[in-house]
Amino acid sequence: MVISETLRLHTAVPFGLPRAVPSGGASFKGYFLPSGATVSTQSYSLHRDPTVFPDPDTFNPERWENPTKEMKDISIPFGGGSRICIGMHLARMELRLGSALFFRGFPNAQRSNKEEMTEKDMEMQSFLLMAPKGHRCLIETN
Ligand code: HEM
Repeated sequence: MVISETLRLHTAVPFGLPRAVPSGGASFKGYFLPSGATVSTQSYSLHRDPTVFPDPDTFNPERWENPTKEMKDISIPFGGGSRICIGMHLARMELRLGSALFFRGFPNAQRSNKEEMTEKDMEMQSFLLMAPKGHRCLIETN
């Protein structure tokens, strides 16, 4: 649940993932898309659709306890379709292993209050890949 929510809100690839419409064109939801046109969808806004993810800017892992089909359908942290991330399963294993090792090593880890970490640190900065502006995660471990 924590990993799904992290990938939703802090998705690493927030931009449009372009695709070319094949020869002959294609029809989608009543729209005709001509051959060769570039179409794309992108995770940043899909992952913040308030009709699917209420209160979308809040980090709330519990929302994944019983995910709806719609939530699963519009979550695309690894892209989608035939060019979906080929390393997705390895990445998910690494994320799970990393999280487990972290919390086993630091079971009482909490956001640090001593050296203030602000919401500004967590603002997203995006070039091709997106990362928190502060590039730091300060924690206390006792
Ligand atoms: C959290 C980790 C990762 C994220 C968020 C991520 C995300 C993505 C995204 C969004 C795409 C584009 C998919 C599309 O166009 O629909 C992609 C493509 C790709 N990823 Fe990842 N990825 C991750 C880890 C990895 C790892 C560990 C590997 C390899 C071991 C990998 C290999 C690839 C490759 C080869 C492609 C190109 C696939 C193609 O164009 O056919 N990725 N990834």
